[in-house]
Amino acid sequence: MSHQQLLAPILDFLACETPKAWIDEAAKKENLPVVLIDHLICELKAAQSAMFLIRKYAVDKASGDALLAWLKPFETLVYKREGDWRSLPGKNNLTKAVIPKSDSPYGQDLINKMVLLIKEELHHFYQVLEIMDEYGIEYQSITPCRYAKGLLRHVKTYEPDAMVDKLIIGAYIEARSCERFAGLAPHVDKRLGDFYVSLLRSEARHYQDYLTLAEQVAGKDISERVKFFAEVEAELITTADEDFKFHSGVPSGR
Ligand SMILES: [Fe+2]
Ligand SMILES: [Fe+2]
Repeated sequence: MSHQQLLAPILDFLACETPKAWIDEAAKKENLPVVLIDHLICELKAAQSAMFLIRKYAVDKASGDALLAWLKPFETLVYKREGDWRSLPGKNNLTKAVIPKSDSPYGQDLINKMVLLIKEELHHFYQVLEIMDEYGIEYQSITPCRYAKGLLRHVKTYEPDAMVDKLIIGAYIEARSCERFAGLAPHVDKRLGDFYVSLLRSEARHYQDYLTLAEQVAGKDISERVKFFAEVEAELITTADEDFKFHSGVPSGR
């Protein structure tokens, strides 16, 4: 499948394209560190939220602990600045079988999709570290932008709607990331552009996996709710935002 074919359903799913002002800001050389460091954190967050969903909704305590152990070296590297990033590929594996809760009708499908997703996000995480190393960019902690919080504050407080909302939000974050990688690729140097394009395929599937799971869990038509989040998301993308990050709105005030 070509990029255009991969992107068509994503552009259809999103209510707006990334404003040109964001692309221009992100393509500036001096913003490369913030773009890459924030991207790095997004990959870890993507793995963490997928893991949260499995642990909360699909597995027993023992399986949940095995999942946490898998993520640990990646989290330690970021939050404690401990460990050697080059050793991470050897640690990207789940050593125990994850057993679904017996009363969960969608459990196995959620586990299968999310375990694969986590593996891929952790691989991306490593790839971003490799690129940062090549460009001589050092990790430093940065604050999260308003984007994820702006979406999550609309999550319903009761089940299964809360879970459905989180899955729909997962789909939007994945789709937007994919669209931004594609938009940014032609404006950065070849090494980075090729990397962004290489991410499109997995991120395109991730958004679809989230959406399928949301439909399964809801067991009814969710198009109204999807439309609601499309609008919230587009608002965050198209309004002025002083805090420039990977998922920020229209750069302003700088
Ligand atoms: Fe990713
Ligand atoms: Fe992803």
